[in-house]
Amino acid sequence: MLEGKTALVTGGSSGIGFASAKMLKDNGARVAITGTNTEKLHSARKMLGDGTIAIQADVSKLDDLDRMQSELRQAFGKLDIFFANAGVAFNTPLGKTDEAMYYRMMDVNVKGTFFSIQSVLPLMPEGASIILNTSWLNQIGTPNKALLSASKAAVRSFARVMSAELLDRGIRVNCVSPGTIETPIHRGPNESDEHFCAYVERVGQQVPVGRMGKPEDIAAAVLFLASDASSYMLGAEMVIDGGRAEL
Ligand SMILES: NC(=O)c1ccc[n+]([C@@H]2O[C@H](COP(=O)([O-])OP(=O)(O)OC[C@H]3O[C@@H](n4cnc5c(N)ncnc54)[C@H](OP(=O)(O)O)[C@@H]3O)[C@@H](O)[C@H]2O)c1
Repeated sequence: MLEGKTALVTGGSSGIGFASAKMLKDNGARVAITGTNTEKLHSARKMLGDGTIAIQADVSKLDDLDRMQSELRQAFGKLDIFFANAGVAFNTPLGKTDEAMYYRMMDVNVKGTFFSIQSVLPLMPEGASIILNTSWLNQIGTPNKALLSASKAAVRSFARVMSAELLDRGIRVNCVSPGTIETPIHRGPNESDEHFCAYVERVGQQVPVGRMGKPEDIAAAVLFLASDASSYMLGAEMVIDGGRAEL
């Protein structure tokens, strides 16, 4: 399906990004992944197999993004698919959130998404597809999630505005909007398997389909938005949340 195409997945070393990189590769694309943790990144590259490129780059640092662009240019020459996926998530209760927490959330999720798109745009030809990772939280009021929800609402907005801005270049920008997906983002640094399994079970019961989402549930939507099968979609949001926001 994607033979001859090249793809970049930021935050491709884990969770949704890793599953998406695998699905894009399994469908014929040449794939590059990024992350901040070198060890994690290289073990993900190994699992993805030959031909995958790993670039250590923090999306919140513009120097890293410049280097990412030049490594991509050298390796691929052009970029057909960009999944802007790298992100962080943590609670920010109004009374317990300091300025450093504010900047961490906004620097990675908002600034990182904006400037990573800016950095790869010169490599993108007509017909290219940009997919952003927002969240089902972008429209609902969940306590303690003001900054995460606002950061993902900003990303949702980017898809609309950038689609309009890139219309004459024939580049589409759409979003995937995951519900609660079983990835390391929900796991504390020293959390036991038992504790995490209980969390997965508990959250699963709150979802109409009866389970927490899997990274592959989102990767399937990324593949669709990356392919020409979605060529009539612009500035849209695909919600993949097991029915949580609607039912
Ligand atoms: N899981 C969910 O329930 C859910 C729901 C809605 C939206 N999302 C979104 O999905 C995206 C992926 O999350 P995930 O659930 O797959 O979590 P994950 O497994 O923790 O993956 C996060 C990825 O982002 C990378 N990353 C984090 N900060 C980065 C930075 N500053 N620069 C570059 N890479 C960075 C991580 O690599 P390093 O650790 O090496 O930096 C990792 O590869 C995020 O944007 C998240 O907000 C997730």
